[in-house]
Amino acid sequence: RSLRIGLIPGDGIGREVIPAGRRVLEAVSTSFNLKFSFVDLPAGYETFQQTGVALPDRTVETLQKECDGALFGAVSSPTKKVAGYSSPIVALRKKLDLYANIRPVKTTFSSKNPIDLVIVRENTEDLYVKEERTFSAPDGSGKIAEAIKRISERASHRIATMAGTIALQRQQLRESGIQSIHTKPTVTITHKSNVLSQTDGLFRETSRTALSQPQFSSITIDEQIVDSMVYKLFRQPSTYDVIVAPNLYGDILSDGAAALVGSLGLVPSANVGDGFAIGEPCHGSAPDIMGKGIANPIATIRSVGVMLEFLGEAKAAGRIYEAVDGNLEEGRLLTPDVGGSAGTEEVVEDILKRL
Ligand code: NAI
Ligand code: MG
Repeated sequence: RSLRIGLIPGDGIGREVIPAGRRVLEAVSTSFNLKFSFVDLPAGYETFQQTGVALPDRTVETLQKECDGALFGAVSSPTKKVAGYSSPIVALRKKLDLYANIRPVKTTFSSKNPIDLVIVRENTEDLYVKEERTFSAPDGSGKIAEAIKRISERASHRIATMAGTIALQRQQLRESGIQSIHTKPTVTITHKSNVLSQTDGLFRETSRTALSQPQFSSITIDEQIVDSMVYKLFRQPSTYDVIVAPNLYGDILSDGAAALVGSLGLVPSANVGDGFAIGEPCHGSAPDIMGKGIANPIATIRSVGVMLEFLGEAKAAGRIYEAVDGNLEEGRLLTPDVGGSAGTEEVVEDILKRL
């Protein structure tokens, strides 16, 4: 099978970690009968400074017409608002209808408080439709601001269906021998329908309906109110397998869960739609360590795995996860953010050897 992958390094350490992603893909290609070709695509703040656009049309068109998937590094955002600049990854999610944001959070298997969960966040609606308004209070007591929280049956159904599909994929990986703290698939629906009975109520009901489709009969369906979810996620993170959430709760839970594993340099993500996936490390462009050769490449390498899972290559993804776990378990070649003194290159070499 031939797959064409767009490489969008972006700014800062994005340029140091995306090449590692490419090398990992090349390393797994022969064992899994895959043939990768790559196309480098510009985007980001530096692209904006040079050309006046952060996301050139050519980048979007090449992704749409030529590519099966992509890897996105990170982009810098100016601290002050700059006219004409807006985040290219946010625009890409819209243009390619990447309606799900997937964030696996995992510690090593032998960790004292092991975690192996994935947050499946709806990425198109909820409060992020950005329909806000401000007006004067009729009684003259000052301003009032309000925002629309929009939840649709369509978006809720497709995100819960994706969560169910992911739960089954993870189970398949376990059955093929990947070590895990879980033995059976569970999806936890996150909401606050005790207060927001219509919006979160619709999300909860629709998710339940979606997950009761016959192909999901082996999945345990659970649900949890978002505030108690935060408590339990921090106290007993090993409880969770797959978590599905509307946009805002998913955003907050994702960053909170990432904090549980120690470094942003370890946490991958993917932006996923029907038939397209962009792997993206969770971290930013890290100007403080840029150019020093010490950026942790693992978030990107794991993002390669997540992208491959969504391109239907779960076995190759599993091999990548195992190589990363091997490197972390041994703990000999680690970058400074996780307590080691190795550079990016040494970590990449070690993982490539394990592949
Ligand atoms: P950041 O994620 O770039 O860095 C936060 C801290 O984590 C820094 O101390 C950094 O050195 C460390 N870190 C991050 N990734 C690492 C890695 N792979 N290995 C080792 N250490 C790592 O977030 P920050 O500093 O808030 O933002 C820097 C720039 O990145 C800003 O311009 C921001 O707008 C942008 N950003 C972009 C994102 C994206 O492209 N998706 C996400 C977050 C921030
Ligand atoms: Mg966030």
